[in-house]
Amino acid sequence: MVGSIGISKIKTAIFISGNGSNMKNLIKFSKLKTSPIYVDLVLSSNKKANGIRYLKKNKIVYKIFNFKKKKDENKVLKILKKKKINLICLAGFMKILSKDFIKKFNGKILNIHPSLLPKYKGLNTHERVIMNNEKFSGCTVHIVNSKLDSGKIILQKEVRISKKDNPKTLSKKILKQEHVLYPKALKKFLSKT
Ligand code: GRF
Repeated sequence: MVGSIGISKIKTAIFISGNGSNMKNLIKFSKLKTSPIYVDLVLSSNKKANGIRYLKKNKIVYKIFNFKKKKDENKVLKILKKKKINLICLAGFMKILSKDFIKKFNGKILNIHPSLLPKYKGLNTHERVIMNNEKFSGCTVHIVNSKLDSGKIILQKEVRISKKDNPKTLSKKILKQEHVLYPKALKKFLSKT
């Protein structure tokens, strides 16, 4: 378990697949008194995810599931139920959850996406944004529904693109803003539910 259990804190699981910088940021956020969540569990779809190093170092409970089969999702659902998880935060999670899974957690799965949705859903966002000579991009926290990157938007942050930006520099700029946006969006979302 991570963070102190304030009576009203929401039991949260974070799903990751890679670097886990948003995960780290949410875990740090969850330890604040003012945070509405505490992180009870992290699931990774990738046993080589960089984020796992941080989890090991900080003795945070994590599990690995490749989410390839229905069987995996069922096991995950069982664990989430056992731990009484009320909220799932996807943070760089690269798998697509089934409609069934999403239905079971209806309205209680959030995701962060590195674009100003509804623009640039899906993968390779920064490459496409740069190719199209966009002046702005950004990040979005939204509720997950059965259509990719299409659920209700909770918050967005715009980021200005400079002429010198390439996908790598833009991704860095946006990631920095993601770390501000996700906690803010959680506060907003949970003050309404
Ligand atoms: C972030 O840009 C997130 O928006 C996207 O994947 C990236 C993950 O970064 N879905 P990290 O693993 O949180 O560092």
